[in-house]
Amino acid sequence: MKDAHGRTIDYLRLSLTDRCNFRCIYCMPAEGVAQMSHDEILRIEEIEELVRIAAGIGIKNVRLTGGEPLVRKGVVELVRSITAMPGIENVSMTTNGVLLPQMVDDLKAAGLSRVNISLDTLDADQFRMVTRCGNLDDALAGIDAALAAGLNPVKVNAVTVKSLDQDFLAFARLSVDRPLHVRFIEYMPVGDSAGIDGCGWGKKDVIPSEELFDLINERAAAAGMPALVPAGGSRPVGWGPARYFQFPGAQGTVGFISPLSRHFCSECNRLRMTADGKIRPCLFSDEEFDVRAALRDGGEDAVRAVLMEALGAKPDEHHDRVGTERGMSQIGG
Ligand code: GTP
Ligand code: 5AD
Ligand code: SF4
Repeated sequence: MKDAHGRTIDYLRLSLTDRCNFRCIYCMPAEGVAQMSHDEILRIEEIEELVRIAAGIGIKNVRLTGGEPLVRKGVVELVRSITAMPGIENVSMTTNGVLLPQMVDDLKAAGLSRVNISLDTLDADQFRMVTRCGNLDDALAGIDAALAAGLNPVKVNAVTVKSLDQDFLAFARLSVDRPLHVRFIEYMPVGDSAGIDGCGWGKKDVIPSEELFDLINERAAAAGMPALVPAGGSRPVGWGPARYFQFPGAQGTVGFISPLSRHFCSECNRLRMTADGKIRPCLFSDEEFDVRAALRDGGEDAVRAVLMEALGAKPDEHHDRVGTERGMSQIGG
């Protein structure tokens, strides 16, 4: 289906829960978010019904997000049912990875194609500081498990933040010996009024991707490594906004996602749904359309009408406005 600006919209991001086993300082307040009640959250059968209807109007790719999607009860069964739906071609997930060692084989058997794993630092102390309760080794074990299970591609998402002083070359090097696709994401100051004040980060902390690209190449040169070159045919499967490069001969790639320095709105292909059943036409806008009410009281035509209304409301670009009412854990990134 096409939106009002001629873009083909075939990618649906579904947040399965606002809960998470981490409390990342840029995503949630220390005490966690005021959680949605059981009734507010869509039931698994309601999500299945939504995907079935969305597939009927052109959605082909579904990404499951959170909070942390793997803490949602019934996630494996959901993967199994939506991968089998006519029209759905690819089901993927964005996860912090810590539950993958125990779940990835079941997820793969259920039809999950690929995962994007969030990992912002390779320093154990800093990892504990950023996630407030996570353990770096558990996250690394999640990456190992995803590769061992044969999910392909496996991507690593690192949000880049000036005041963290991350070891970008060490991250980029993860792509050399294993088929890992490391993506550096410009920090987006989203959710200011959602009580996410734990980090004190803001626009001053955004590292423009071009600056980071040059920095990685400088550090690579100092370490006797070649420079990054465009990834060409090694680009991993995906329909997101990343641009990919690689070290010559590397098994994986290094990607850059630049929501602030290089607007990719003209290529936007997606709708997103929050765990409480609100369709958001744009990550950066607080405008929402209530598909839960349509699922519970309306029926198929009503659900389709809400999807079409949300599609029609997709803005041409975010115009540097940033939504403030919900944090990332409620939207799903
Ligand atoms: P694939 O390329 O298909 O693997 O997916 P993806 O990169 O879109 O998904 P992922 O969940 O890994 O998101 C990576 C980063 O891109 C996250 O920080 C998202 O918040 C960001 N992102 C994804 N979609 C959008 C979007 O429509 N607008 C903006 N501004 N950022 C987005
Ligand atoms: N800016 C950029 N990326 C973010 N993510 C979460 N919050 C932000 C933010 N403020 C990332 C997560 C995850 C993905 C869905 O979004 O790290 O990888
Ligand atoms: Fe959980 Fe991801 Fe938010 Fe961290 S950024 S608290 S892992 S949802």
